[in-house]
Amino acid sequence: MTALRGSTIVGLGRAVPPRVVTNADLERLVDTTDEWIVTRTGIRERRVVPDGVATSDLAYEAAVEALADAGVPADALDLIIVGTATPDMIFPATACLLQDRLGARRAAAFDASAACSSWVYGCAMAHATIAAGMAETVLVVGAETLSRITNWRDRSTCVLFGDSAGAAVLRPAPVGEGFLSFVLGADGRGGPLISLPAGGSRLPASFETVERQLHYIHMNGREVFKFAVRVIPRAIREAAERAGVPLEAVDWFIPHQANIRIIDAAAERLGQPREKFFVNVQRYGNTSSASVPVALYEAWRAGYLDRGDLLILLAFGGGLTWGSCAVRWTRERATARRAE
Ligand code: UT7
Repeated sequence: MTALRGSTIVGLGRAVPPRVVTNADLERLVDTTDEWIVTRTGIRERRVVPDGVATSDLAYEAAVEALADAGVPADALDLIIVGTATPDMIFPATACLLQDRLGARRAAAFDASAACSSWVYGCAMAHATIAAGMAETVLVVGAETLSRITNWRDRSTCVLFGDSAGAAVLRPAPVGEGFLSFVLGADGRGGPLISLPAGGSRLPASFETVERQLHYIHMNGREVFKFAVRVIPRAIREAAERAGVPLEAVDWFIPHQANIRIIDAAAERLGQPREKFFVNVQRYGNTSSASVPVALYEAWRAGYLDRGDLLILLAFGGGLTWGSCAVRWTRERATARRAE
């Protein structure tokens, strides 16, 4: 079936907590060094929420900015999707908490759970819903407070993660503008490679699960690294093929910000110049589902993206999951917009 219309991003927002945790701060917590963290990951600092701040608080801040940027009132939203691995609670969905706080009374709301790929998965669902004529205006948020599920005594994970949120408002667009293609994938066999084992129905919270530290992220970093380096070039190539564009025509790759070495390896395997890959992992670390929308926001705000540019966004993570999409950018250069 050929779609009669597509969708595009008409507003972007971001929330990053003000507190910066540097590698030097982590040297005081665990047996690590700034040198190890920078050479193995590219990360120099990350943001961490203060006590009392939850994922929906960051989601709200990012959503308010995205709605203002789009010039869309909250009660115009038909659907809210929040991608997150760190919801405020198991239910109600963080998207419902956000719907209430925004006063988006008309909007349906649910969370997308595909770990770091959740925001891209959410955009695919939003795009399909708009293309099918089931919605006009959709808010897709990626929001995380990973610091809440990080074991600050485990040096193999605590140096990697951070907190933030990114939000996008999607509206209808002619086919060929905005989102051009989506690729979504999963390989559940790799589920145990990154997980938060306790707190669900398999291992309900108990003194024992807390004692065994099963409420924290558990990850086999080396295997996830290999998976990422394998899947990223494939997902990027497929997104370009489905959009009918050559890789050489891509102006910007906006990848999940997990590790600079993963991004370097992907650029090399694709034979694409590294300068075409937007990187901000040094400032935020891995913020899971927030990583791609925050990178997109920053690339746009910095004035790198111009109307007509071709982008490929790419996410991968727990599940295992991955998602990519090709985008024909439909907004004016940000600096030009601000000057108007
Ligand atoms: O969003 C998707 C989720 N996750 C990812 O994308 C993560 C993907 N994986 C990675 O980014 C990398 O695998 C890591 C950064 C997690 C680890 O880098 P690595 O080069 O794969 O290191 P490794 O796990 O093979 O560990 C090498 C050594 C080990 O010591 P031994 O066994 O060689 O003596 C670790 O114990 O480095 C040690 N190590 C550390 N040393 C200092 C692990 N963490 C640290 C640390 N500081 N923070």
